[in-house]
Amino acid sequence: MQKTILSVLNNLERPKSPPIWLMRQAGRYLPEYKEVRKQAGNFLNLCYTSELACEVTLQPIRKYAFDASILFADILLIPDALGQKVWFVEGEGPRLEPISSPDGLTLDNLSQHMQPVYNTVSLLSQRLPIETTLIGFAGAPWTVATYMIAGRGTPDQAPAHALKHNDIVAFQGLMDVIVEATIEYLAAQVEYGAEVLQLFDSWAGSLVGDDFDRFCIAPNKAIIDGLRARGVTVPIIGFPRGAKNRYVDFAKEAGVQALSIDQDINLSSVISDLPDTIVSQGNLDPLCLIDGGGKMFSQVDEIIEATRGRRHIFNLGHGITQHTPPQNVSDLVNYIRNKG
Ligand code: CP3
Repeated sequence: MQKTILSVLNNLERPKSPPIWLMRQAGRYLPEYKEVRKQAGNFLNLCYTSELACEVTLQPIRKYAFDASILFADILLIPDALGQKVWFVEGEGPRLEPISSPDGLTLDNLSQHMQPVYNTVSLLSQRLPIETTLIGFAGAPWTVATYMIAGRGTPDQAPAHALKHNDIVAFQGLMDVIVEATIEYLAAQVEYGAEVLQLFDSWAGSLVGDDFDRFCIAPNKAIIDGLRARGVTVPIIGFPRGAKNRYVDFAKEAGVQALSIDQDINLSSVISDLPDTIVSQGNLDPLCLIDGGGKMFSQVDEIIEATRGRRHIFNLGHGITQHTPPQNVSDLVNYIRNKG
């Protein structure tokens, strides 16, 4: 059996129907996830308990036979590993003790702290079906920094923008520490068995003009260059969510092999300028999975039409929501696989 996603990324194959996986494919829309989540007690415990993290990673693969499996972890494990206090409030989301400089953060405990995550990767590479590609991931520095500085998710990332404006030295120092930690973390994921990497820059959309070049493109590129310098050769997917008219610049400059695209932009307008050496991914509105049926299928048709003749990985424009009926996910997968 072939690993379709890996061979699409390596330009070895252009299958009749696009391979598929979904961002946040393991999560609260699945009753079996909620069961294991309860057992783990809290979310970070789930991330750091290899057997349980492996189990929830495998759940959507058993149920839907996606072409890729994404390691179950979180982008906020990096701040935790660097020594910042991180916790999750039930029903609300992440909380961190806010910081305004890299003072007090240390890379010294990173590898020991992340060992349970590496063990999850290792279990997955033993237990996944041979045809399923294993994706490792991390947050991109700007997105991780927005949480570290604000201490929580924010609608406009204003606290991070304020630090960048008021104390560029402290802000850049923090970004540099995240870059360094992320290189080490992702290189280790690959050592333990990750076959592809994705960098999530979920809040790239609030960086405009020159800021987009300096704090989105440059740090994503620094991580990718750092990985290549260490001899890591796996394909890398970039996801500068909300990048609007800068998507193609990002794809050309950051050194990615694939570009994940959100649902707020016209797909054709991005791929018409995207070199065909770069694979496209994503763009389906996660909300259409709540309705399912004809409305969902017609949005799928549009994406398949727009990407005909190029290498494309079917995915959402952002994570699946917890309100998605699991049956709609099976309908989606069957529809795409029968379209070829
Ligand atoms: O299946 C997968 O995609 C793999 C696991 C994964 C999670 N988070 C699990 C998770 C991945 C790839 C992430 C990435 C992540 N985490 C991002 C980037 C992608 C994006 O969504 O923009 C961000 C910004 C985070 C930070 C984070 N983690 C937030 C803001 C939240 C709270 C929001 C929410 O949905 O609860 C989390 C929690 C989280 N991460 C959950 C899961 C399954 C839900 C936790 C729970 O079970 O209560």
